[in-house]
Amino acid sequence: MPNSATDPALEQQLKQSRESLDFALQSGRMGTWDINLVNNSIACSQLMLDLWGVTAKELNGNRAILQKKVHPDDLQRMNSSIDEAIKNDSIYELEFRIIPSPGKERWVMSRGRCTYDSDLKTPSRFSGVVFDITEKKIKEEKLTAALKARDQFFMIANHELRTPLTCLELHHQVMELELKLNYPDVFSTEILKSGFQKQKDNLQRITRLVNNILDESQIASGSLSIQPEHFDLCEMAREVVDRFKIIAESAGVEVRFTITQSVPGKWDRFRLEQVLLNLLTNAIRYGNKTPIHIEIKGDEEKGVMIVRDNGLGINSEDQKRVFEQFERATGDNNTNGLGLGLFISNSIIKAHGGEISLKSEIGKGAEFAVVLPRFPG
Ligand SMILES: Nc1ncnc2c1ncn2[C@@H]1O[C@H](COP(=O)(O)OP(=O)(O)OP(=O)(O)O)[C@@H](O)[C@H]1O
Ligand SMILES: [Mg+2]
Repeated sequence: MPNSATDPALEQQLKQSRESLDFALQSGRMGTWDINLVNNSIACSQLMLDLWGVTAKELNGNRAILQKKVHPDDLQRMNSSIDEAIKNDSIYELEFRIIPSPGKERWVMSRGRCTYDSDLKTPSRFSGVVFDITEKKIKEEKLTAALKARDQFFMIANHELRTPLTCLELHHQVMELELKLNYPDVFSTEILKSGFQKQKDNLQRITRLVNNILDESQIASGSLSIQPEHFDLCEMAREVVDRFKIIAESAGVEVRFTITQSVPGKWDRFRLEQVLLNLLTNAIRYGNKTPIHIEIKGDEEKGVMIVRDNGLGINSEDQKRVFEQFERATGDNNTNGLGLGLFISNSIIKAHGGEISLKSEIGKGAEFAVVLPRFPG
């Protein structure tokens, strides 16, 4: 048999194979590791050292140095997987977290296999490859969170739509029965009035929910359109507040409205009415019956709408989240909603080139400020 140490052709072949392997590992951003199971030392490639955040000098073959950087919650899982692969002569494959430097976390995927001495019983080396899967993991986590939020949305939407639909259905059934039985009271003005009011309330609830769902899908597909026209922001707000006062009164909430001047501009009137109504509805829902303050002001460049209450408030961790779709802040399980109002409002404001900001502290109410350029280009 030719000896590779002396056969130049074989040596050349070996060199080429090594180079190809190196190239494949580099292209796949794969690091390699090789554990000597006899003296428990480890050798690894530069890429693996970089992943773990150690230098070859620091490592000096010491396996414990790498193990120390494995996330404490994953270390036992890693060691048991390695032991099992050695015991069963099976492939070791594991995703786990490492902490290359304090506060930094990375997900890696490691794959390897044991080699045994010529007696095929004594494990001698355990070697394999490792690669960074942090980005994939982040995407997976985001996807899982989005799927969870969507599931929750369908659950709430189901409940939210079912309640007014069931009310309408029951109301019709009762009326039908009363008509069949010829109850004289059915046609009394009082009963008809209250019946119509209940039907109107339920229909409004269904319409609002369906509109919100349709708006959300328009935003998701990027087709939310803005139709700007000239109007006065104060006049528009006054009209919305007038309509809203009836709802506020029936909820026992006082509405305080401050207008300092007229603020003409060019915006989508219907959409801005929607924004203001969303903010006002939230102020009733989460305002703990405290007075709602509405302020409209502006200068040469912008129009501003402010809605403030002194109710539940939103803690700082949730303040960004509530503008995402289907997101609701914790602690308000008694009130129903799809978690779409602020997402839709934010999208409408952005489509106008404007911004919405939130100042709030838990238990101390919330202030939403909408700033809109007056004559967006
Ligand atoms: N004024 C407020 N005070 C306290 N929390 C608020 C206020 N406005 C909004 N929130 C919180 O932000 C969350 C998101 O509000 P958003 O209007 O997007 O959804 P929603 O009111 O739950 O449902 P929807 O508006 O779709 O009917 C709410 O569930 C609530 O937790
Ligand atoms: Mg809302």
